[in-house]
Amino acid sequence: MTDPPIPFSRPYVSGREPEAVVAALASRRWSGDGPATARASELLARVTGGRVLLTTSCTHALELAALLLDLQPGDEVIVPAFTFVSTANAFALRGAHLVFADVRPDTYNLDERLLPVSRRTRAIVPVHYAGVGCAMDAIGDAAASVGASVIEDAAHALYGTWRGRPLGGLGRLAALSFHETKNITCGEGGALAIHDPALVARAEVLREKGTDRSRFFRGEVDRYTWRDLGSSYLPSDLLAAVLVAQLEAADRIQAERHRVWAAYASGLADWAARHGIGTPHVPADCAHPAHLYYVTLPDLARRTLLAQHLRARGITAAFHYQPLHLSAFGQRYGARSLPVTERAGDTLLRLPLYPELTDRDVARVVDAVTSFAP
Ligand SMILES: Cc1ncc(COP(=O)(O)O)c(C=O)c1O
Repeated sequence: MTDPPIPFSRPYVSGREPEAVVAALASRRWSGDGPATARASELLARVTGGRVLLTTSCTHALELAALLLDLQPGDEVIVPAFTFVSTANAFALRGAHLVFADVRPDTYNLDERLLPVSRRTRAIVPVHYAGVGCAMDAIGDAAASVGASVIEDAAHALYGTWRGRPLGGLGRLAALSFHETKNITCGEGGALAIHDPALVARAEVLREKGTDRSRFFRGEVDRYTWRDLGSSYLPSDLLAAVLVAQLEAADRIQAERHRVWAAYASGLADWAARHGIGTPHVPADCAHPAHLYYVTLPDLARRTLLAQHLRARGITAAFHYQPLHLSAFGQRYGARSLPVTERAGDTLLRLPLYPELTDRDVARVVDAVTSFAP
């Protein structure tokens, strides 16, 4: 009998999602900011601190952050070149000039030693890659030196910590993702954690089509009107109900993900050392949320061969970000060489990681990887 395929990712089902959705349907509060949204926001705020606003995606949380900054033409925003397109696109949409920066060779996080800050820098956007915290002290100092804001892209990072403090709780603003591939998911979803109280009232307006509808619903004004720029960034309360069910199962989800992550780390250590293969590095001052496990091969050809080797054994592994500064659109922000990003784009391969992977599945992946001689 052949073994069943092992996909790269599979959303966890706690078992409480169906009843949560049925209850949300029965409440007849299907639009945004109903009771499930309030509960999900509260659960998230307990993790990140600050005020949390649910959004339809991390992309939209980043767009909301960019709107809050009131960027002017010529303003610069520093983003890692090794990231998802939304980290950059959200600021490009506001007319910012993107300055792509390279990442560290050990964590693939924004390299705090190479930050191209200038007097035009308005924001630095660290991405906690794989949920491993960036060097937030140095990044914060660089931002403060030119009066810029730190906006965390914490899409991978919920439940990670840096020096005992929560990721998503360290910048002026932080964006979270609940996309299907994330540890906690409602299919598509996100949140903006706001750590500057001066931004909360305006964030509510921008998220509600530029109106003060949130205040109206709280009974603070007798009608709501157009106050500012804005868009519609509220998820339906039906999706928020799924999110609540997931957040309430977070301990189980995280324990299962850590089980898989640890089994990869111990099962692959010898093979990686023998062949000079990179594996995730977690600095001593970071605790990661077991979001990704990856290996880095010596070159693109060998990464392609390993992915094929795994596919032939029914296992799907996935490469990750293609360098933004070399992309068709990203090139308009100026050509430069960012060697660590370029190498990561060619050599990094992510292994399947989701709670339902059994110990036997994980052993199958480990056996398949270690039977590959790079
Ligand atoms: C670093 C990073 N930022 C932002 C996003 C966008 O998240 P979403 O799909 O919730 O918009 C992703 C998507 O995976 C990501 O990896």
